[in-house]
Amino acid sequence: MLWTSELVLALLPFAAFNVASPTSRPRDKFDWSSKRSLIAFGDSYTYVQGTHGHQNYSFIGDQLDFSYDAQTLLSNKIVQNQTATAEGGPNWVEYLTKCGLKPGMTSPRTCSKQLWDFAFAGADISTEYTPLHHNYTVSLVNQITQFKTYAAPVLQTFLPPSKSLIAIWIGINDVGDSSKYTVDFPTFYGNLTRTLFTSVNELYDLGYRSYLLMNLPPLDRTPGNQATSTPHPNATQVAWYNDALVTKAELFGKEKGDVEVRVFDAHARLSAMLDEPAKYGIVNTTNFCAGYNQPDIDTDYKAYGCPTSLDTYFWFNSGHMTSHVHRILAEELEDWLKE
Ligand SMILES: *[C@@H]1O[C@H](CO)[C@@H](O)[C@H](O)[C@H]1NC(C)=O
Ligand SMILES: *[C@@H]1O[C@H](CO)[C@@H](O)[C@H](O)[C@H]1NC(C)=O
Ligand SMILES: *[C@@H]1O[C@H](CO)[C@@H](O)[C@H](O)[C@H]1NC(C)=O
Ligand SMILES: *[C@@H]1O[C@H](CO)[C@@H](O)[C@H](O)[C@H]1NC(C)=O
Ligand SMILES: *[C@@H]1O[C@H](CO)[C@@H](O)[C@H](O)[C@H]1NC(C)=O
Ligand SMILES: *[C@@H]1O[C@H](CO)[C@@H](O)[C@H](O)[C@H]1NC(C)=O
Repeated sequence: MLWTSELVLALLPFAAFNVASPTSRPRDKFDWSSKRSLIAFGDSYTYVQGTHGHQNYSFIGDQLDFSYDAQTLLSNKIVQNQTATAEGGPNWVEYLTKCGLKPGMTSPRTCSKQLWDFAFAGADISTEYTPLHHNYTVSLVNQITQFKTYAAPVLQTFLPPSKSLIAIWIGINDVGDSSKYTVDFPTFYGNLTRTLFTSVNELYDLGYRSYLLMNLPPLDRTPGNQATSTPHPNATQVAWYNDALVTKAELFGKEKGDVEVRVFDAHARLSAMLDEPAKYGIVNTTNFCAGYNQPDIDTDYKAYGCPTSLDTYFWFNSGHMTSHVHRILAEELEDWLKE
């Protein structure tokens, strides 16, 4: 169990704790049941394909096509098909919101929990620390700048910040790209996460007060890393980054005083799946299916040397989890939000 701050609890409305009151009801985390949207930032684990996005990378725009108008944003649709996420099917934000889950196109505005997803595949936090994967990659810092400039003024006309939960899953590419740096890693990850929260502060200034951060998966256990005695990143690096994230999240919460910021321990949940896969309908944790991106993979997996179907694999490819794993993670996250 990660951080459940007394500070956060102390900030809840008095009525929520007035146990004597007959009308009092326990409130779920972030008041999730009353939220009308999830606004997401991050990398390939989180991105969804948009009809106005960069194919295989984004919902809308890219670094070289940075601006968009209200019409483009509001007419944009989430695409759902085999190539519309980095996991061959729906990902965690789609399972959590149930927005864009069905094959084809979905306008976020038609969902009861609207998914507005500004994550960009391949993103790191900032070019201050690691280079862009491509010249069109939108870093986390720039995703937030872009959101602030072009999306927030439009979305806030019908989605007040109080009805929105901000969700951020980032750091996966950062720790990978920097794993061989010669730096003091705990300090470096402290710097990365400080920059992350400097950017989150811009969302605070826009009025957002609810923040869900996902910590790093066990990236030391990707198929490639399992096969070597010198994984990059290794378990220590992943743990250092995750410690830095919790520290900075707590600090942000204390400095602001009026925010709810929580870190979901995705690392623990995903490690549990890798440790006891059978409990989760998973049989393969060591490898990925070579034909993962083939159009007929759902039915013809054996043709690609895969003894079992893709949804029995933990890993979709060398660095991404399957849609099956995303579904389980989202279910666990939803339960946690309601705890
Ligand atoms: C997107 O990915 C698919 C499948 O991996 C590939 O066939 C397609 O060419 C890619 N599109 C772009 C624009 O890179
Ligand atoms: C997914 O949808 C996009 C947008 O319509 C399309 O470009 C792409 O070819 C589709 N991919 C598959 C596998 O159907
Ligand atoms: C982006 O990179 C591509 C491929 O490296 C290059 O052809 C293109 O000119 C670059 N665009 C800009 C605006 O730098
Ligand atoms: C961390 O940031 C501090 C302050 O900007 C800088 O002096 C230091 O060199 C950075 N250290 C690492 C390892 O990135
Ligand atoms: C992981 O890598 C870091 C940085 O190179 C190193 O300090 C640490 O000892 C390594 N941990 C393990 C378990 O190998
Ligand atoms: C795991 O997947 C790999 C690659 O598809 C395959 O060679 C291996 O036999 C699978 N292992 C199990 C236990 O199914």
